[in-house]
Parts: sequence; structure tokens; C-alpha cells
Amino acid sequence: MCGIVGYCGPENPVDVIVQGLKTLEYRGYDSAGVAVLNQGKFKRIRAEGKLSHLEQKLANETFDGHLGVGHTRWATHGPPVEKNAHPHAVGSTSIVHNGIIENYATLKAELIDEGAVFTSDTDSELIAHLVDKAIAGGKDLFHAVIEIIPKLEGAYSVLAVNEAYPEEIMAFKSGPPLVVGRNDKEVVVASDLAAIMPYTNKVFFLQDEEVLHVIGTKIEFFDQKGQKISKKETVIDWSPELIEKQGYDHFMLKEIYEQPRSVAMAMNPHIDLESKTVRLNKVGFGVGHVEELERLDSAADWQNTLNIFKSVKRVFMVACGTSYYAGMVGEYLIEQLSRTPVECDIASEFRYRHPVIPENSLVIVISQSGETADTLAALRLAREAGAQVLSICNVKNSSMDREADGHLYMNAGVEVGVASTKALSSTMALLNCVAMAMAKAKGQLPEDQEAELVESLLATPSHMESVLAYDSFFAEAASTLKDFRGFLYMGRGVNYPVALEGALKMKELAYMHAEGYAAGEMKHGPLALIDESMAIIMLAPSDELYDKTVSNLEEAKARGGKIISIGSGKNEKLAALSDHYLALPEVSWTINPILELIPVQLMSYHVAHSLGKDIDQPRNLAKSVTVE
Ligand code: F6R
Repeated sequence: MCGIVGYCGPENPVDVIVQGLKTLEYRGYDSAGVAVLNQGKFKRIRAEGKLSHLEQKLANETFDGHLGVGHTRWATHGPPVEKNAHPHAVGSTSIVHNGIIENYATLKAELIDEGAVFTSDTDSELIAHLVDKAIAGGKDLFHAVIEIIPKLEGAYSVLAVNEAYPEEIMAFKSGPPLVVGRNDKEVVVASDLAAIMPYTNKVFFLQDEEVLHVIGTKIEFFDQKGQKISKKETVIDWSPELIEKQGYDHFMLKEIYEQPRSVAMAMNPHIDLESKTVRLNKVGFGVGHVEELERLDSAADWQNTLNIFKSVKRVFMVACGTSYYAGMVGEYLIEQLSRTPVECDIASEFRYRHPVIPENSLVIVISQSGETADTLAALRLAREAGAQVLSICNVKNSSMDREADGHLYMNAGVEVGVASTKALSSTMALLNCVAMAMAKAKGQLPEDQEAELVESLLATPSHMESVLAYDSFFAEAASTLKDFRGFLYMGRGVNYPVALEGALKMKELAYMHAEGYAAGEMKHGPLALIDESMAIIMLAPSDELYDKTVSNLEEAKARGGKIISIGSGKNEKLAALSDHYLALPEVSWTINPILELIPVQLMSYHVAHSLGKDIDQPRNLAKSVTVE
């Protein structure tokens, strides 16, 4: 996930771009750069680290041109060093890119065969090569971009500029967001409204497969074949309440959209980008006070965490509600990757079932608020039994955070909607790191597998951005979905907790009957519920249980259920078996649950919205449950 800004107008582009990048820094901040026209050439200045480093470098530079692009990076391909910072320049072309080019290895190899020389480790640089090559072959900037788009597979939003076209920016996207705003004298195009709002409140949101051509103050839209299309301008007219919600109708929707960022923030501290390894950062086992965490020596603390994990014989995950489903995902991840036995418990059950907590147990408590009474009681019980307790909280300095032996943070930012969304996806990302750390401590994670899993994790925020496009599908489908008698969510393995979460969200937001089931359990009873008034949501990613899940889907279909299936990539079989098939990016089994969450959250949100329910404050519920 990265942030991009382009500017064409009378101001100094550097000022506009850097201001814009500041508002986008939440999208990534491991390096930043600009390419701005000066004396007819793009002058490119890039810096490793936060935007302030780039600002220092820019302080002594002058620019006389009126067009430029900029980027703040969150590294996926290639470590966060200057040579990998954007913009990438090839010949007279510069580009900035947010997303992932999935077929980059093939395209890069082809270009290298033709003699191209790459100067970075990124997937993005090849876009600059492709555009520059098309221009060298006689195309203008517009037609060069139209020619190369079909070659790109994956998630991308891209700005491309070329020195021969000093008033033009080409922008195109598939997945990550792009917005363009224009006033009488200038055009700003960026990943997010925030970078545009200082200049105009009249904007156009680019949809996937749309292309924007900026020439001076003129903007035109095209499809990917280069055919002109018309688009409706959106006037942003925000009330103070809407400003707080950043334009979203509800905090819940805002928080659903924040997930690519919060997932990135959750995993960031625990991943070494250069070596593609996991290294839990400042967990602080045995330190005693959370206030001390910042002062810890990272290397010594990591060694201490590894030693503790190595000695662990049994893991307990304990939490309530949505956090409990995060724990279930953790159970699958930790057990499968580290071969350590894991038990996952609802806190109110755990605390009263007189649990046997053997020596060398690790109890992981999960709580967004860090104050949930049952989870806190479980934490105290576990500590009394002599277990090491690791807390995963969103609220720092909460009771659980203070009382636990080790500490990890969701880093999801404030979650206002009572129904938890971003805290869950952040925790799932964090549990990927914990499971890998446990597997490393146990000698169960070969280096190549670790690198693969880390790469999948790093790509997750970008994939999440493309999955958010299902918002419009559910906004439309909600009026039909709300008339169903009930909803059955099904999944297997690590996807099963997402089925439970989908059903919980539907119950708490839309007050409708919904059940989450392990798909293999259907024939042991719940199949009797299915008829044409029942909507079935089947989580069927391409993993080792896929064939079995499809058999369960066929059973449900044979009973007349209306089926929405959620799977990986193009899948004609699932599409044929379902009333609606939603394709998610093809990712590792460890990441599927994070992506699946988004459609089930959006579905409940829109069904509840169409029923006129109070989305941010569902009846009878509270954000923090500090009583039993
Ligand atoms: C559901 C939801 C609740 C919480 C549960 C635990 O959307 O928000 O089920 O997940 O009350 O809360 P925390 O995580 O604060 O312990």
C-alpha cells in the first residue's frame, strides 16, 4: 500500500505534492520521492525513510516546471532503500505505482531479454520500462499507456508522465484508489481525497479499468481500449459530522475502508523488509511495565521472545466475540505452522471451566478494548496458574495491556463503530507474525517458506484495497438480500472463523437470523434449514480443503439455497454453482481469512443499512463490555 500524488498547475508542484503526500503518509512511509519538471527534464529526488527526510533533501532544490508526481512507499517488492523508492524513471518517462504487479517476474524477464537494465528490485519499475518502450516505438504518452495496460496483471493505480508531454499526466487503475480534482487553474490526482481537498471539492473517483488523461487543466476519461467515457463529478459537501467520518455515512464503513492501512500498521513493526523475515518487536516478556517497552533493546527482546516460545508446550487463545474468532484463526495458524498444540476458548467459558493449564503454557488474550471483563479475568487466572500471558490489544495501557507479561498491539487506530472490523483484520495479520515467530522458535519454518509467507503478508494491504471494490456489489444486492429469511455462512479450516464472524456481524447489525458453520458439519443437522428462502455464503478459497468445500456447496445448492460463494481468482466451477461468485485475489491460505472478512463485513453493513438499522450503535450492545 502506497500513496501517490500528481499535479499540473501554476504552483510549485513540489509544494503541492509534498503537502499531498503528508496526508497520505498513513499509506506507507518507508521511503518517498518526487519527479518534477525542471528545465524540460524530470528532476527526481528520493529519500529513504519518512517524508521529512525527503523534505530535507528538497529544501536545497529548485524547480521551474509545473508538472510532477510523487509517492510515499510501503515496501512489498524490494527493501525500503532509495533505489527502490518511487518515482521510477526510464528514459524520459517517470511513473509512480501503488499496488502489486503479479506477473512482474515474467514481464521483467522479457524486458531484460530485450536489453532493458533495471535499477531497482521493485515490480513497479517495469511499468516505466513498458511505457518508455512504447513511446520510443512511436506512440504518444496516451497511446503508450493504452498499449501497455493489458500486459499488467494484479492490483495497481499508476501515474505516468513523460518529458515530451510537459502538461500531461496519464492515470489508470485496477484495485487501489485514485481520485482526481480540478479547479480553473490546476489538476491534482491522488490516492485519497485528503490530498485534493485543499484545492477543490469537485472530484471524480476513478473506477477500475478507467483511464484518466490530464492535459493542462483539461481532464478526460477513457476505458482501457482508449474509448472516451463520461463520468459524473462528485461535489464533496461535508458537514462537521461527515468530516469526522471522513465522508463515510458511518464509522463502520470508514473503519472497513481503513483496513488495508490498519493491517499494514499491525504487521509493520514485526517484519524485516530486507531479509523478508519475522521478528516480533519489543514484546517485553518479563519487563513488568508497559512504559518500559520503548526503551527495550530490540535484539535482546526478540531473543527473549524466541526463548520463551521455544519452551512453550501448549498455547491457549482466550477472547470474546469477534476477538475470539481472531483467536480461532490464530489456532489454525500457530498449530499448522509451528506444530504446537493450541486450544481456543471463549473467555467466559475458560474462566469457569477450571481449565488445566500445564507448565510451559502460553496464554494469548485478545481484546480490542483491553478491558473486556471475562477476558481480563481469564488473563488473571492464567497468570495465577503460572502461564506466560501475551496480550494482543488495540488500546495501549488498557488493563490487559498493563497486566500481561508480553504485549502486542493491533495498531488499528480508534475503532468507533461498536461492531468490530479493523481490529479483527489487524489481529489476523499480527497472528500471522506470531505463528511464524513460534514456528521459527520451534525450528519448524524453513527460510524459503518464511520468505514466501512474509511476501504474502506484505501484499495483503494492496489485495485488500481491491477487495473493497465489492462495496458496490453489496450496496446493490442488499435490497434483495434483506428479504431472505436467514443467512448461513460456511467455511472450513482457517476460513471457518470468518463464517462465524460473518454470521455475528449480520446478527448484530441487521438483527437477522444468521448462523456460521463448519461446512463439513452441515449434513449433521443444519442442512434441514436450507430452502430457497435461505442465503448461503460459502467461503471456498483454493486451499487444501477446496474440493470438500465445493461438495458442501453442491449439497446446499441441491436443497434450493441461494448461494453467494467467495473464492480465489477466476473460478468457472464456483461461478456456475453459485447465484453470485465473488473472486478474491489468489493468496496463501494464511491470508485468505483477512481478505474474506471484507465481503462479509460489507454484506452485513449494506443489509443493515437497507433495513434502516443503527449501524454504529446497534441496539443492546456496547463497545467495551466491562461487566460479566
Ligand atoms: C462484535 C464485537 C464484539 C467484541 C467483543 C470483545 O462486532 O465487537 O463481539 O469483539 O465484545 O471485545 P474486545 O475485543 O474489546 O475484548
